[in-house]
Amino acid sequence: MQAIFYLGWSGYRLGVSVAALVGRDLVSLLDFDRRELETIFRTADKMQHFTRKCGGQLKNYVMATIFFEPSTRTRLSFETSMHRLGGSVIGFAEPGVSSVAKGETLADTIRMVESYADVIVLRHKIEGSAKFAAEIAGVPVLNGGDGSQHHPSQTLTDLYTIRKEFGEIDGRKILLLGDLQHTRSASSLAYGLGHYKGITMFLVSPQNLRMRPEITDYLDNSGVKYVEGEDPANFISQADVIYVTRLQKERFQDQKQAEALKGSYTLTRDLLERSPKDAIVLHHLPRIEEIPLEVDYTSKARYFQQAANGVPVRMAFLYLSIYHSKYHPVKNLEPRSTTSEMRRCANSNCISNQPREPITPALKEVTSKGEHVLQCQYCGRYTKE
Ligand code: CP
Repeated sequence: MQAIFYLGWSGYRLGVSVAALVGRDLVSLLDFDRRELETIFRTADKMQHFTRKCGGQLKNYVMATIFFEPSTRTRLSFETSMHRLGGSVIGFAEPGVSSVAKGETLADTIRMVESYADVIVLRHKIEGSAKFAAEIAGVPVLNGGDGSQHHPSQTLTDLYTIRKEFGEIDGRKILLLGDLQHTRSASSLAYGLGHYKGITMFLVSPQNLRMRPEITDYLDNSGVKYVEGEDPANFISQADVIYVTRLQKERFQDQKQAEALKGSYTLTRDLLERSPKDAIVLHHLPRIEEIPLEVDYTSKARYFQQAANGVPVRMAFLYLSIYHSKYHPVKNLEPRSTTSEMRRCANSNCISNQPREPITPALKEVTSKGEHVLQCQYCGRYTKE
């Protein structure tokens, strides 16, 4: 159904097709097409009018934020968005204050929270947790970040910022710098950019922090040109967007390795001066030492505006997803076996490897660089046959 929707407040006419987004989860950028992304961005443009003034569009709706990892921006901007739209917020900012501390599973937690709220925002260190939660919940599940895999609301914010700064995303040259192996904002951005034409990415990282193969395979299949390298000085003069990421030390199994990589990349002011005049610097934040304070005072710094754009973008998604949606309890959810003889995903941090969650791995055969591999449909990672 195509619907031309009129926002019923302050006379603002949205005039975009919104029906396709009603009731939708936000698990991964892979689940959306370019047209749907444009609907979200056009709605975010309209939401700019309400970021300081409550519009009341989601009055009587309740959002639950359940965060199993620390957050400043994602949780608070989702909560601000819901408040600005007139709705209410429940939830927890760390699992220690919930019954998870007593041993409750994610599946049981989701079954409870869906009966209290109209939408659930989940952040979890376990990869595939948002996809799994979305299968269980009868309300939309919005992924606030799952391990090193997806961070879709961050990517919507990043793409919206690029679109705002340059007028369009097609044709942009993006230098992605830092810990590309563990940073979910980086993999998620790659998935998002695959929807656009004429994109070039310079993937610059220390050798052992390169982007994972399932993501570079996706770039190959999506027609995104990319070059991998270790020295940003070799690419910065060509970049429209310099996107810096933090070393994700909490994701390293060996903390000594994280310590050794500390300070291995920095966007200095001198380096930035070699970029084109109109280039911009983005960062998902928090930044630690990879962008020195002196860069904040250059005309190219956009990371705080980028974070601020997270409010209209999240308002837009909340509005589009839940305004007309109805609670559809998931019926006949088959209990799923956890038989030990079944072929498992090799990623111990995947939801399908959590013994108490009622889930079986969904491994699909794919080809990567001419080799047969199995790809987990929850965490996206490859397991060699
Ligand atoms: N960008 C981001 O996810 O920030 P937080 O971890 O503070 O939510």
